[in-house]
Amino acid sequence: MPANAPVLVGKLVTLRPFGAEDITDQYIGWLNDPRVVRFSNQRFRRHDAESCAAYLASFQHSANHFVSIRRRADDKAIGTMTAYVSLPHQTVDVGIMVGAPEVWGQGYGQDAWNTLLAWLADRADIRKITAGTLEGNIGMQRLMQRSGMTLEARRVAQEIVEGQPQDIVYYARFTDR
Ligand SMILES: CC(C)(COP(=O)(O)OP(=O)(O)OC[C@H]1O[C@@H](n2cnc3c(N)ncnc32)[C@H](O)[C@@H]1OP(=O)(O)O)[C@@H](O)C(=O)NCCC(=O)NCCS
Repeated sequence: MPANAPVLVGKLVTLRPFGAEDITDQYIGWLNDPRVVRFSNQRFRRHDAESCAAYLASFQHSANHFVSIRRRADDKAIGTMTAYVSLPHQTVDVGIMVGAPEVWGQGYGQDAWNTLLAWLADRADIRKITAGTLEGNIGMQRLMQRSGMTLEARRVAQEIVEGQPQDIVYYARFTDR
C-alpha cells in the first residue's frame, strides 16, 4: 500500500497497510486452507513465506493497495483486502479475504468492504469501483450488493468449481463525480 494510505477505522474493523510483519504462519495458513480459497484461483498453488513476500513486493511503487483487516476489539489480523487502481481509467478493482472461517458471518467482511469502498469513493481520482466473484460465492455477492454495487456483467460457465462450471459475476458502483 502506498505510504500515503491512511489507517481506516470502521465499526468493527481497522484497515491498515499490509506489511512484511503480517506474513505470519496464520496468514500463510489462510491461503493454503481449501475452505478459504474455495472460489479463488489461489487454490491451485501452494503458498509460503517466500511467495507471500514476492506478492507483497508487487505492490511497491504501484498505485495498488494491500490491506490488513484487524478486528477492532483486539487488533487481531482477520483478513486482507486488495485494491487494484488504474490511474488512466480512474477505476479500482477490489477483493477481500476474511481468513478464518470461524469469524465469517459476523459482519467483519461487510464492515471492511464498506470502509474501504467509502475511502475509495471519496478519492477524486476514482470514478468507478468494480469487483467480481463466482456465482457460488453467495456471501461475497450479498456483501457487494449491500455496498450499493450492482450486477454489471457475467461470464457464463467461466471456471470449474468442484467439477461444475460456474459463471463469474461482475459488480460495479460509480462514485458519481
Ligand atoms: C465472502 C466473505 C468476504 C464474507 O465475509 P464475512 O465476514 O463472512 O461476511 P459478513 O459477515 O460481513 O456478511 C456479509 C453478508 O454475506 C452473508 N454471508 C456471509 N457468508 C455467507 C455464506 N457462506 N453463505 C451465504 N451468505 C453468507 C452474510 O449473511 C451477510 O449478508 P446478510 O446480512 O444479508 O445475511 C468471507 O466469507 C471470505 O473471505 N471468504 C473467503 C474468501 C472469499 O471467498 N473472498 C471473496 C473472493 S471473490
